[in-house]
Amino acid sequence: MTRPAVPGHLAIVMDGNGRWATRRFLPRLAGHRQGLEALRRCVGASLERGIGVLTVFAFSSENWQRPGEEVSGLMELLGVALRKEVPALREQGVQIHFVGDRAGLARAMVEGFEQAELDTADNQRMVLNVCFNYGGRWDMVQAAQRLLASGVDPTEETLAGALSLAHVPDPDLLIRTGGDQRVSNFLLWQLAYTEMVFSETLWPDFDERALDAALLEFGQRERRFGRTAEQARPAPARAA
Ligand code: FPP
Repeated sequence: MTRPAVPGHLAIVMDGNGRWATRRFLPRLAGHRQGLEALRRCVGASLERGIGVLTVFAFSSENWQRPGEEVSGLMELLGVALRKEVPALREQGVQIHFVGDRAGLARAMVEGFEQAELDTADNQRMVLNVCFNYGGRWDMVQAAQRLLASGVDPTEETLAGALSLAHVPDPDLLIRTGGDQRVSNFLLWQLAYTEMVFSETLWPDFDERALDAALLEFGQRERRFGRTAEQARPAPARAA
């Protein structure tokens, strides 16, 4: 059947900001600024489509290796987002979570995260997880360390419960823009049964049409979770 489907949880690797800028002879940071616009658009479109959880990869544990100017530009952009975007998200009913390693981040930034989370904690329309200084391997290690420290036996259930996305179900769909087809240390545990759609569109150009194209592709997938196709398909309705 060919129809768009609405994932309960959509995760996005927002890739291609740098190339978007370079193609226009602009500094890479201009691409990230435009990427923030695309993110605002995507949050609005996700709300309209009834997506329950949106998780985006804003800054990875590995992104510190980028040129200092780009790193500090991204930190500044996050500050702008905290000041300018959070009040609007609060009005729209979005519950924000910042996910990632807060050790080593500037104190003002961590306070900004805490305030944004506090200000939107009662919102119920959509959860927005912004992964910042996040890596899937870091997450699994911090979860294992927390279990060890509290003397809890590691099982699938206890480990999943100690991960930084324990407050939401696993993603149904991962979209990666920018043409590359890899996971890049994003949500390594949670992507076990996630459908993946890779889009050639560079993130700053990712609009409602591109989102709907990905949702259409998602709607065509048969999710089997290790079962056979026959087991996974819903039984046909019986004639009365
Ligand atoms: C990857 O594109 C993108 C990032 C590393 C940053 C993502 C940030 C945003 C979308 C803006 C929102 C930002 C904040 C801080 C809330 P790339 O630079 O790797 O692109 P390239 O592959 O074309 O070089």
